Amino acid sequence: MALIAQSSIQAVIDACDMIEVVAPYSTLKKSGANYMGRCPFHGEKTPSFSVDPGQKLYYCFGCGEGGNVFTFIEKKEGLDFADAVKMLADKYGVRLQYEASSPEQENRRQERERLLALLDQAATYYSRCLLESSQAAPARQYLGNRGFKEPVIREFRLGFSPAGGSALLKAATGKGFTETELSRAGLIIQRDASSRDRFRGRLMFPFTDHRGRVLGFGARVLDDSKPKYLNSPDSELYHKTNLVFGLGNARTMITKEDRVFIVEGYTDVLALHQAGIVNAVASMGTALTEQQLKEISRFTRNVYLAFDADAAGQAAMLRALELAKKHNLAVRVVKMPPGQDPAELVLSEDGLRSFNELGSAAPTLLEYQVQTTLSSSGIDSSQGRVRAFASLKNVLDGAASSMERDEQLRIIADRLRLSPENVAYLMKSAPSNDDNEDGGTRRRVLTHEEIAERSFLSLCLANPGEARRYLQLMTEAHFTNEQTRAAFIWVREKLDEKNSGSGNNEQRLVMDRNAREILPELLIRSRTGSTPPEALTEYYFRLCEAELSRRISVIKATVSEGKDTGSELRELYRLETRRRDIIRLIQSGSCETV
Ligand code: GTP
Ligand code: MN
Repeated sequence: MALIAQSSIQAVIDACDMIEVVAPYSTLKKSGANYMGRCPFHGEKTPSFSVDPGQKLYYCFGCGEGGNVFTFIEKKEGLDFADAVKMLADKYGVRLQYEASSPEQENRRQERERLLALLDQAATYYSRCLLESSQAAPARQYLGNRGFKEPVIREFRLGFSPAGGSALLKAATGKGFTETELSRAGLIIQRDASSRDRFRGRLMFPFTDHRGRVLGFGARVLDDSKPKYLNSPDSELYHKTNLVFGLGNARTMITKEDRVFIVEGYTDVLALHQAGIVNAVASMGTALTEQQLKEISRFTRNVYLAFDADAAGQAAMLRALELAKKHNLAVRVVKMPPGQDPAELVLSEDGLRSFNELGSAAPTLLEYQVQTTLSSSGIDSSQGRVRAFASLKNVLDGAASSMERDEQLRIIADRLRLSPENVAYLMKSAPSNDDNEDGGTRRRVLTHEEIAERSFLSLCLANPGEARRYLQLMTEAHFTNEQTRAAFIWVREKLDEKNSGSGNNEQRLVMDRNAREILPELLIRSRTGSTPPEALTEYYFRLCEAELSRRISVIKATVSEGKDTGSELRELYRLETRRRDIIRLIQSGSCETV
């Protein structure tokens, strides 16, 4: 795909009415220069979602989600950037222009298109075999026995690969594809003398991306031979760690219901889909990867893990916990009855009702871990209780909020027959978790420094005249992380008079990832804030003081390592003096006089 021209992206932003874009997802009311409504990204009763129609930005003071028109559409519609731009361009009648690409880029793009076309035609070929050829009768029989009906077989484009050895090879070369292309697509195995089909006599499950394009295949045997599944090798198009099985079929419903079921097997996805649970996807056999969770998190934050009740499923679940924490997902566990997987369950009599019940009773991952640890530690003995407590302490560190943690702690104390004092004593060494609890969402805890840096920058935006001179005196060293540093540069450029009115900054807001993460918050705060302008000066000095402190500790560390000290000590003295002056200034509250 050629790149959308920067000027077209800007044209789409210009044409958009941010209020109109948000309207279908939240009822907005005017409040000062901005509009407020209930946040469409997290459940809440009182509005904390703010939209700035002028800057075309949104920010939720509750959950911290923020961005521009494109990120809004990406998240709510489950689209990627280019598709979000296209959708808005359509809505507002903007004709998109594309960057001219180099001949090499154009070549690569065409090659890719051909491989995609080949894979798509292979899927059609296998699918026709399954539905029509006499050779595939056992495969049809097999699917029938397992309870799969034609609509779901068609929707997922299941197929059958003929046993012969070169049926696909012949069909595809007959259509003008080369052996090299077939090999690059993972469809044949090339040998010195001859090539043969990779998949023979198997039931074919196309692997599609979130847009439904076929990138590879999973191929199941019809009997008990091994391996049960043979999958496409990783190729330039297909990477098993990235792909989420069924995402293309599920994504609309995932966004609509704002939750996803993640299961282990392709057949589980099919069975759930057939039973009407359309928002289900599977990992690619291997345990859920970080990339897969990231892909899924574009569509929802509410993840229901419905893994098999066996040891492998449980191990996969624990790994998912770590990853989910990292990506801010709220994970629940749908506990399968022992020995059953979701496919067997929903296809059995009354199974759909059971599955739905398990779904609505699904404990959070923390509850689930507490329950399983308690039931597996033999807590009838005092040794068992001690053991249980030791592992539960670690489990509790994973709590999403201190509220959730305290609740589980009460349950644990009760089950282990410990008094609250004993629990408190035993918990002492466990670090507490002070996340915000608004609406059950989780945000990264900011350091004091970051909070000051953000406040300073939004005050700069609110008081550009004042801010300019401070910003010129500062460097990136005054900011402690990538995001505030990127935002600093952006703000400084925006306020720089030479640049004003060039529109340059809005483009950078679209492009710079780090700045994009926090700029909406800063811009919106700058228009809603009631902080007095004097605060700007105070924050400036605070950031200067923090920066000096950091420099001082670095120097102190080198001095105490016993290196040559003369010049360092002088520098240290100079910095300490400056820092003391600044602190005195801040404490006297007379920053304004400087
Ligand atoms: P059925 O047995 O047809 O119900 O398939 P299933 O999807 O339920 O299989 P199972 O529960 O045994 O395995 C879950 C998932 O693990 C499968 O969907 C595959 O993704 C993967 N898997 C299982 N066996 C193999 C194998 O032999 N090779 C590979 N590559 N993956 C496998
Ligand atoms: Mn299974």
